[in-house]
Amino acid sequence: MPSSVKKIPGAAFLSFPDMYDMLVAELRERFFCDLRKSVRYGDLLYMPYIDNLLINNLKNESESIGDGKTAQGIPPLRVPYWCRTAMLSPLSIGFESIGDACRALSGIQRNWAPYDYQFFRRSALIREKLPYINLKERSFPVRIPAAPIGLYTLTGEHTMLASAATTSFLPAGMIRFTENHEDPPSRAYLKLYEALTLMHLFFGCDLPGKGERCFDAGASPGGWTWVLAGLGCNVFSVDRAELVPELMKNPRVDFLRHDAFTLKPEDVGTCDWVFSDVICYPERLYEWIGTWLSSGLCKNMICTVKMQGGIDWQLIEKFASLPDSRLVHLNYNKHELTWLCCKK
Ligand SMILES: C[S@@+](CC[C@H](N)C(=O)[O-])C[C@H]1O[C@@H](n2cnc3c(N)ncnc32)[C@H](O)[C@@H]1O
Repeated sequence: MPSSVKKIPGAAFLSFPDMYDMLVAELRERFFCDLRKSVRYGDLLYMPYIDNLLINNLKNESESIGDGKTAQGIPPLRVPYWCRTAMLSPLSIGFESIGDACRALSGIQRNWAPYDYQFFRRSALIREKLPYINLKERSFPVRIPAAPIGLYTLTGEHTMLASAATTSFLPAGMIRFTENHEDPPSRAYLKLYEALTLMHLFFGCDLPGKGERCFDAGASPGGWTWVLAGLGCNVFSVDRAELVPELMKNPRVDFLRHDAFTLKPEDVGTCDWVFSDVICYPERLYEWIGTWLSSGLCKNMICTVKMQGGIDWQLIEKFASLPDSRLVHLNYNKHELTWLCCKK
């Protein structure tokens, strides 16, 4: 029997691993969603009814993604931060065989990524028959094509939830990097790999390169400085604690033991890139970012916004509304968001 494909109302939101509760909290507190009629499939939350604010945001999002515009044309995300991708036009698909499932999906569009939380074997068989997409760990640096990619998940042996329109160009909204267990002084380098990859995807921004000047605030033990020095940049690293000895000796790295936030942009001078991974209240970071933006002394910024207890959504909105910027939750972020800014 051929498969049945039925359009169903609402949308579905996929969280990062272990972040489902954050997604639910955000839907309740930021978008005031009533989740009583929603259905959970692993880390995917299907909401048949969604409120107007969220649905309008999703529509804007889907229009800019669906019409083939480049990533640079996409307005700042107003979908939940803790959602790695969303199904914008969900379909309920019933199928008899693996072949039926593949025909149903590839009849809609070429690129599909799975989200698996059960029926792993069946899902793998479907994936093998669909046109190839790269789901492997990636080596940094990597460029992600700005091509729409659908999402499907098996909700039963013969049923799946799928959507051709999603909010991310990454397969199932996630990128993973091959880890280097030898050289980096901390795992924080993975966060910077991901942030720099998204800077290109969102803004067409090149990687920091040879001879460019970077200011790394809250740099210790040195994961981000290690990435930047490795790319050939000259790094001014500031922290209250020293970097690991190898980086303290690195001729591309200039270290200062200081409170990074009491250094004025004029004290630091012109920079191609400014970074902050300082653990601080978001209010303090927002103020500091303002001093850099109004100084005109830097082009690009990447900062982690660390959440402290309950989230002040109004303040978070202020970060998201800064011009030429995006606020995102990365796969390698935990209880924090990452603010990316690229001045052309
Ligand atoms: C999450 S760690 C940074 C990790 C670093 N990005 C890496 O890749 O290894 C946060 C750092 O912020 C530093 N820090 C906290 N407050 C600071 C301040 N006011 N000025 C400079 N550094 C600060 C801490 O000493 C700590 O090393």
